[in-house]
Amino acid sequence: MSDSASLKIGDKESGYPIRSGTIGPDVIDIRKLYAETGCFTYDPGFTSTASCDSALTYIDGDEGVLLHRGYPIGELAEDSSFMEVSYLLLNGELPSKDELDSFTYTISRHTMLHEQLMQFYRGFRRDAHPMAIMCGVVGALSAFYHDSTDIADPEHRKISSHRLIAKMPTIAAAAYKYSVGQPFVYPDNSLSYTGNFLKMTFGVPAEKYEVNPVVERALDRIFILHADHEQNASTSTVRLAGSSGANPFACIAAGIACLWGPAHGGANEAALNMLREIGTPDKIPHYIERAKDKNDPFRLMGFGHRVYKNYDPRATVMQKTVREVFDALKVSDPVFEVALQLEEMALNDPYFIEKKLFPNVDFYSGVILSAIGFPTTMFTALFALARTVGWVAQWNEMISDPGQKIGRPRQLYTGPTQRPYVEIGKR
Ligand code: SDX
Repeated sequence: MSDSASLKIGDKESGYPIRSGTIGPDVIDIRKLYAETGCFTYDPGFTSTASCDSALTYIDGDEGVLLHRGYPIGELAEDSSFMEVSYLLLNGELPSKDELDSFTYTISRHTMLHEQLMQFYRGFRRDAHPMAIMCGVVGALSAFYHDSTDIADPEHRKISSHRLIAKMPTIAAAAYKYSVGQPFVYPDNSLSYTGNFLKMTFGVPAEKYEVNPVVERALDRIFILHADHEQNASTSTVRLAGSSGANPFACIAAGIACLWGPAHGGANEAALNMLREIGTPDKIPHYIERAKDKNDPFRLMGFGHRVYKNYDPRATVMQKTVREVFDALKVSDPVFEVALQLEEMALNDPYFIEKKLFPNVDFYSGVILSAIGFPTTMFTALFALARTVGWVAQWNEMISDPGQKIGRPRQLYTGPTQRPYVEIGKR
């Protein structure tokens, strides 16, 4: 590959350096393009645009590869834990046993919420969507912790990151409790990160709660699968909000808002609702035809991806985990059979083959979460819980980059040219 690219506009030619990463596509550094040509590039969905350097996560969409700091997602999901993957994303290397124990202890010491913050829930209607509550309560965290919001201070960034990772399970569990009218359950630091979340969600003061180890392992694996994913929409939102120097808790609240959309993290809720609407395998061909119909806004939720043009490796692990959870809980759900047959039919349909549409992380996750007992409205809140470590790791990477500047895209202006104001009596 050449080390520079040239661009000819009219009779003027300009050159731009080509940079290579450790793996993956090279980039053409066009930072001087506007100054030299007077033109902007145009890439509304950022389909061909790298916004930053990053060493956290690598995705090869054609091969269906996902690496966190070089480690394949399948191996991390099989052999690691969410706390260990969180340490890896934040620090760049797998921890020693002492390092992992110390990190886990630190996180466990930040699981409680300020009692004033618990009052915020009372302002919501009981039927408020948990993601609306997550946006509000996490944003409200920016009104606390004035002792550690100097983002130029690595120690302040570290404690804010730990607080966010530690408090998201408590915030998400409280959102669920509030929606079902049950009392909040305080964290129990004798449990694992994920076991504590299960107890805060499904435990009640009237009874002893026993964590089911198979469910705990399955949910911990689901958190690993959702931890980080390169420069997706919500991560890019966090980076852009953080580039102005905004409060870290407010930046994560912005990421939660973006993740909520059905085209992004909200797809797990939409996918299970879609599978339930299909109901039985005989209805699948009708929905596949709807998904292919340009005049029908219906899309197969949990299918397709901006980057993966092969099977999302996370969906592979997720499908395997469905079977484990069903066996452990001795449950079944006809919706899983619908999902399996829908996948089979779609993957053999020329439309999906030609457009390289495969199941993504959201296609099977809802089947598992529903079997565990979560309502569909909680699915994206769980995605946000797990993705928080990715958001804070990406935010830290950006803030500590000496070349970091505030993000400020330009535009192709298509509005009216300058014209004089007209008084209302003369319009
Ligand atoms: C996540 O970015 C990330 O990494 C996100 C994520 C993460 O971990 O952060 O991986 C999590 O958000 C996964 C994606 C969850 N979303 C869904 O499952 C919603 C359904 N999928 C689509 O809306 C869509 O596939 C997107 C939004 C995921 C990707 O859209 P793109 O890259 O903008 O692609 P596109 O919409 O331009 O689609 C390309 C073509 C189009 O047809 P043409 O206009 O070329 O004729 O494929 C079609 C689309 O109509 N298409 C689908 C489809 N997805 C794309 N047709 C039917 N059903 C679908 N699901």
